[in-house]
Amino acid sequence: MLLVNTKEMFKKAYEGGYAIGAFNINNMEIIHGIVAACKELNSPVILQVSGSARKYAHHGYLLHMVQAAAEETGLPIALHLDHGANFELCKDCIDGGFTSVMIDGSHLPYEENIEVTRKVVEYAHARGVTVEGELGQLAGVEDEVSVEADKANYTDPDQVQDFVTRTGVDSLAIAIGTSHGAFKFKPGQKPQLRFDILQEVMDRLPGFPIVLHGASSVMPEYVSIVNENGGQMANAIGIPEDMLRKAASMAVCKINVDSDLRLALTAGVRRHLAENPTHFDPRQYLADGRDCITAVVKHKIQNVLGSADKA
Ligand code: G3H
Ligand code: 13P
Ligand code: ZN
Repeated sequence: MLLVNTKEMFKKAYEGGYAIGAFNINNMEIIHGIVAACKELNSPVILQVSGSARKYAHHGYLLHMVQAAAEETGLPIALHLDHGANFELCKDCIDGGFTSVMIDGSHLPYEENIEVTRKVVEYAHARGVTVEGELGQLAGVEDEVSVEADKANYTDPDQVQDFVTRTGVDSLAIAIGTSHGAFKFKPGQKPQLRFDILQEVMDRLPGFPIVLHGASSVMPEYVSIVNENGGQMANAIGIPEDMLRKAASMAVCKINVDSDLRLALTAGVRRHLAENPTHFDPRQYLADGRDCITAVVKHKIQNVLGSADKA
């Protein structure tokens, strides 16, 4: 199967009250681990590449591995640019075979965000590529840009209709209390999402797909392994799964997960090497990391996304 854009995926997800997992990829083992889970559960999936992941792994390598995954599995797979920083990066990815891009102008003044987003939409739509925009800023670190928690701001529901109409985006990322990275809430703070804002956005944009970034749950079984070496991981708090499930049953059609995959891969490798300190064949320890990724993605599809058997 050829790579698909997100149009049909999101339409079905909205109508079915579930969400598509958007998982960040950086190398072959991560791609293998994700698609093995999706194949087993017959789930559509978005594989997304950040600007820094693209620098790390190189565009062509990622493109061809994702195309191979779509051919091998026959699943609907979209290849998406995550947090596109400017028009040129989006254009490079569109010209280079990506089927979906995010233009992230959320840090810009409102009118500038509209301007760059509309420019990307024009270029993308002429080539069958779907576009995600963002309004409101999440806390945390993404692509080397750090936003402190007190500087993050929730999406203003009064802006969403104007933004979507004037830009023509196909989906919209909003800020309702999620954040990037493993440390989403301060120690002792009760995790909370602003479902009132999500509901207001839905009221203003009926049937329109919403995206949640920063949606890792920071799964304790992997945190505990990663933390064995010391460090701050024990203080990491993610988004509770019941909240993500609720969001998926509302307008949220795309749920972004990166940190949970990083934790799982690292936990698998670390456990393998701790148990087998003499091993030095990368296939042995990376296979364990890959299996942990498959377990995480299966868990998400079954307990959070609800996308099993929707391929
Ligand atoms: O939202 C950001 C993703 O977690 C990607 O992070 O830029 O370090 O690849 P990265
Ligand atoms: P997490 O850091 O919560 O996994 O979020 C990833 C993300 O939003 C990628 O765009
Ligand atoms: Zn993000």
